[in-house]
Amino acid sequence: MESSNQLIAGIGLAGTARKSRWPARLDFIQSGTGLVLALFMWGHMFFVSTILISNDAMWTITKFFEGYFFFGKSYPIMVSFVVATVITLLVVHAFLAVRKFPINYRQFTTFHGHMKMMRHEDTTLWFWQALTGFALFFVAAPHVYIMLTHPELIGPFESGDRVWTGHYWPLYILLLLAVELHGGIGLYRLAVKWDWFAGPDPAATRKRLKTLKWALTVFFLALGFATLAAYVKIGIAHAPDYGKPYVPAALQAAPQGVNK
Ligand code: HEM
Repeated sequence: MESSNQLIAGIGLAGTARKSRWPARLDFIQSGTGLVLALFMWGHMFFVSTILISNDAMWTITKFFEGYFFFGKSYPIMVSFVVATVITLLVVHAFLAVRKFPINYRQFTTFHGHMKMMRHEDTTLWFWQALTGFALFFVAAPHVYIMLTHPELIGPFESGDRVWTGHYWPLYILLLLAVELHGGIGLYRLAVKWDWFAGPDPAATRKRLKTLKWALTVFFLALGFATLAAYVKIGIAHAPDYGKPYVPAALQAAPQGVNK
């Protein structure tokens, strides 16, 4: 008979060794990066949607992040540093998430079959989260890359030009749908997993959380599409002057220190 103290690959000595804590740690890092990204996304949607207030409001937010109101001069590179941090979080989060994807067609069909048979809503939600997460690999990449490499091209006209004449609007429709569904489901699953807002009746808590999740998703999708429509409108009107940056009326006489 084999000894119970034999070495099991990757685990240690059977019977004597503790199980590895790494799966739990990796799970925690995946949840943490997801939470930070979801909170970032809420902020991002509000900042970008300032275009719904006015061109000047969006310009002011942009220049704020470029340090213009602190240094009296714009440093778009400051935005690149933020983008680099967000990209790092995205890469870590995605790298850890692929551990949970079905790794071959057989696994996928088995999961899909179980999902259809069980009709368990939370399992179906997981499927959509995995699918939209996979889509985000592709649809988020062009956006974060252009933000990283051309942070100086953010502004009412600059963004409108990119969205319309630069043909980014189809990408943004897909990106918006993917990120809002993915983030909404992700936050809901985090709340269930870590017992946030838990009440005495777990079924009632889940129902409440689900309502909140859909309310947030609908809100951010509505805000996102209204914002996108505003950039499209500006982009169409500005197409004949493509490439000309926005300068607020108050600064048109003396655009000192503002980039371009
Ligand atoms: C720090 C990194 C980021 C910056 C500075 C940034 C900035 C912007 C800006 C300025 C726009 C307006 C359109 C444009 O100028 O092209 C925009 C739009 C958008 N961004 Fe980002 N973004 C960042 C990261 C992300 C990430 C990580 C996602 C999702 C994974 C995302 C999703 C979107 C979507 C969906 C739109 C379309 C606008 C809408 O419909 O509301 N962004 N972003």
